[in-house]
Amino acid sequence: MTVQDQRLAEVQTPALLLDEAKMTRNIDRLAAHVGGKGVMLRPHLKTAKSTDVARRVLTDGTGPATVSTLAEAEVFAEMGVRDIIYAVGITPDKLGRVAALRDKGCDLSVLLDSVAQAQAVAEASARLGQAIPALIELDCDGHRSGVAPGDPVLVEIGRILHEGAAELRGVLTHAGESYEMTGRDVHRALAEVERAAAVGAAETLRAAGLPCPVVSIGSTPTAHAIEDLTGVTEVRAGVYVFFDLVQAGIGACQQDDIALSVLTTVIGHQQQKGWVITDAGWMAMSRDRGTAAHAVDQGYGVVCDEAGQPIPGLTVIKANQEHGIIAAREGYEGEVPDLPLGTRLRILPNHACATAAQYGAYHVIPSAPGAPLLTWPRFGGW
Ligand SMILES: Cc1ncc(COP(=O)(O)O)c(C=O)c1O
Repeated sequence: MTVQDQRLAEVQTPALLLDEAKMTRNIDRLAAHVGGKGVMLRPHLKTAKSTDVARRVLTDGTGPATVSTLAEAEVFAEMGVRDIIYAVGITPDKLGRVAALRDKGCDLSVLLDSVAQAQAVAEASARLGQAIPALIELDCDGHRSGVAPGDPVLVEIGRILHEGAAELRGVLTHAGESYEMTGRDVHRALAEVERAAAVGAAETLRAAGLPCPVVSIGSTPTAHAIEDLTGVTEVRAGVYVFFDLVQAGIGACQQDDIALSVLTTVIGHQQQKGWVITDAGWMAMSRDRGTAAHAVDQGYGVVCDEAGQPIPGLTVIKANQEHGIIAAREGYEGEVPDLPLGTRLRILPNHACATAAQYGAYHVIPSAPGAPLLTWPRFGGW
């Protein structure tokens, strides 16, 4: 029997399952929303970390794409992706790897938000004899790194790149704070903040006589909610391919859209405590407790039956390294089914990126009913 012939019942647990039909629906939904507004979608491949998933996300397999590590850039460039933004602040020691990928024909650009980084990119460009393209990161919502809107350092950085040997490619921002807020209307308002910050910075650069061809915005919640994309050249998002309980909790998707789950087996009980113990602890689910502050705390994950149907009232309330503890959530008074030793369950994850990172492969439940499982390898590292 080849791996391709595998059936769900034969997969050893814990294992990472990917529902291809849900994934495809998620991919198509955002592509239609952004594409319908005449703007390019630049998927972020940091959650996927898989060439099989990338082939389904990227329109023609050559890009555009966003990555969060140079390891991703290297794997996807090898696969044939030709247009990549490495969207984590660049450090001088990484520029050799950037240049090596560019030499191989991949248009890889870098991200920065300081004078020192701009000088390093300009110097490396001069030394290596190739203009490395750089985007200036903007902090649209106080979430993370980036130049604050209105900070004159924006133009200073732009000049160092443009008048040095580098290439000023544009501006980029990510509305990370949208993860902290709930509801489509709120996400739409945050998307407008994101858009206004990026378009405003692009106008500032252009008014200073500098080029700004790329105006890049995006996060999964804001990308789905955005209506007005005036002045924006591209939208980025990544977790939308899979979704997770955090996204469901903030209203960016329905629980039924979550394409990833962890297959687990019941390994014991503590009857008097009402606990069902499984082999999916935090090594299988990750330590992420992203829903802890939500209106509904989902513990370490929502419990479903082996077919993927949620079992009312049950979450993973505690996790040890290799033990997950399932129990009824606080206040739940409904019936809890008997889950004998050996019962197989699926757990929906809080954070798709963190849970998937624990696994070397996706076990893919194909869209075609009854078709054998597929195995799609994942990679890690930096
Ligand atoms: C720079 C950047 N762009 C886009 C994304 C994708 O956003 P999401 O994870 O909400 O899909 C991320 C995610 O962290 C990011 O850091």
